[in-house]
Amino acid sequence: MNTSSFDMDALLARHQHAPHRLVQILREIQVQRHWLSRQDLTQVAQALRSSLAHVEGVASFYHFLHTRPVGQYRVLFSDNITDRLSGSEELHRHLRHLLKLEPDTVRADGRVSVAATSCTGLCDQGPAALVNHQRVITRLNNSRIEHMAALIEQQVPLDQWPAEWSRVDDQIRLANVKLGAQPAPGQGIAAAIARGPQGMLEEIKRSKLRGRGGAGYATGIKWQLCRNAAGSTRYVICNADEGEPGTFKDRVLLSSYADTVFEGMTIAALVVGARQGLVYLRGEYTYLLEPLQAVLVRRRSQGLLGNTIQGKAGFDFDIDIHVGCGAYVCGEESALIESLEGKRGTPRIRPPFPVERGYLGQPSTVNNVETFSAATHIAVHGGAWWAGIGTPQSTGTKIHSVSGDCERPGLYEYPFGTRIGRILEDCGARDTQAVQVGGPSGVCLSALEFGRRIGFEDVPTAGAFMVFDRSRDMFEVARNFAQFFAHESCGFCTPCRVGTELVVRRLDKLGKGYGSSEDVQVLYELDKLMHSATHCGLGAAACNPLRDTIAKFRPAYEQHLKSLHFAPGFDLDAELSQARLATGRDDSGAHLETLV
Ligand SMILES: Cc1cc2nc3c(=O)[nH]c(=O)nc-3n(C[C@H](O)[C@H](O)[C@H](O)COP(=O)(O)O)c2cc1C
Ligand code: SF4
Repeated sequence: MNTSSFDMDALLARHQHAPHRLVQILREIQVQRHWLSRQDLTQVAQALRSSLAHVEGVASFYHFLHTRPVGQYRVLFSDNITDRLSGSEELHRHLRHLLKLEPDTVRADGRVSVAATSCTGLCDQGPAALVNHQRVITRLNNSRIEHMAALIEQQVPLDQWPAEWSRVDDQIRLANVKLGAQPAPGQGIAAAIARGPQGMLEEIKRSKLRGRGGAGYATGIKWQLCRNAAGSTRYVICNADEGEPGTFKDRVLLSSYADTVFEGMTIAALVVGARQGLVYLRGEYTYLLEPLQAVLVRRRSQGLLGNTIQGKAGFDFDIDIHVGCGAYVCGEESALIESLEGKRGTPRIRPPFPVERGYLGQPSTVNNVETFSAATHIAVHGGAWWAGIGTPQSTGTKIHSVSGDCERPGLYEYPFGTRIGRILEDCGARDTQAVQVGGPSGVCLSALEFGRRIGFEDVPTAGAFMVFDRSRDMFEVARNFAQFFAHESCGFCTPCRVGTELVVRRLDKLGKGYGSSEDVQVLYELDKLMHSATHCGLGAAACNPLRDTIAKFRPAYEQHLKSLHFAPGFDLDAELSQARLATGRDDSGAHLETLV
């Protein structure tokens, strides 16, 4: 790529030399330069009146920012378990072999590097890869890999690669509300204006809508807290980080129903009194940036964004898109806000919560993409209508991203309260051994539990539904998830930074057949420690898959053990259920030393 025409000063001026634009500035420089040299970082630091150490510290945090030279072509294979199940590891090796590349190195001629990344959000059409953080390649197979290697050797520009390779299908298999007929642009806003901010807030509360990002916090209460918090200005933030492996519903909502999502943000702005909205779009979805910006431009021209929205004096609101740089932890709302402010994505100590002190210290409501979509439908059809769908504590519908061992992967939208078994029947799953609901942070269900129901009362979920048939080794599934958490730990607190790594090491030892029952006990100890002593939800959830699979698929572990004998008096089941109740904090990590 020719970078000679790149005007760094113009880029910095476009971002008004604002320190909180740092991550976007670095990302955009890298698009031009491929990597961030010390010279570039120094220039940025001077322009932002910041220190080089700070700018380097931020750049080094994000997986997709490079402070060392990288290949002209940078291929990242999606390393989610469902990509692995469909052969991604063999394809990865095959490409490296064709290109004569060692793992995680740049070829001596600087042409290419090939590595793995956590999950590209394309689990329904994998194996998938990301090239130069811009272009996704779906449905990889040997012939595509061989063709790719040839294109790289011939230095064919990415925009001349076959368009078909980057086809991303929505794969909507079952639509209900949010994936069904959409309101006309502006319909939800008109209904919200007619009710007024307080009336619209009451409607959201009447709907009993709960956030779709995982924790299930009541949206009406969140908006009310933000509306009532002291502050000079307010923000509406859409969490489109969608980093949980196995989740791809927000990708489809943003690809095909962005109007409804932006409309939900605008309705939230009316309720809380915000003038500015921000979408935090995960780096893996950069290919959606241009289409999303086109929707924003159209909505401005339709009077649905900008000043005096739909003719209502004083209703001014606009939306900006911030592209993430490959860090799962930035999906956690306070880390997301840090990243929006141009910093490393380290989760904040809470309270204060973002509704009191969020983006730039001002009250901010952070909601998931699907939550905003739901808000638009509620504005149009009313809160009582929504509350009439689903179950008393889990109203409305939920979109599931179904992948893994089934005939029809894709999106399925059901009212809350739907049986796990029903989803398995609909997606054509056969001989199913386990389902991982909610991604690695969620819960692993065995066949005995397929009568359980989706909902906050029983099986909560952020949206991933990964199916494993009886041919799969659940130990390897747990190992893949453990690697994911170790890779994504932000390193801020010792129990998570060290603990996730220790879990991987012990599992690797078991995987090689050198493990013993003592290793299983150490894993159990690590689970207990990390569940209670980590700073944010990532560390707390990191052992969930381990705990579930040891408890429910013990034979998968036993076949990796020399002998499975626990210490006298050690009751694994009792200890595991006690671990679930463990509370209390200890950030020292001292306990870990005994486990190394
Ligand atoms: C490690 C971690 C990652 C998260 N990733 C996401 C994410 O990708 N998308 C999301 O909406 N929420 C994610 N969350 C939850 C958010 O912190 C937050 O609860 C959510 O965005 C609130 O939106 P809601 O109220 O609409 O659910 C994550 C939480 C943790 C602890
Ligand atoms: S728990 Fe893990 S991800 Fe969360 S702050 Fe600690 S090190 Fe970072």
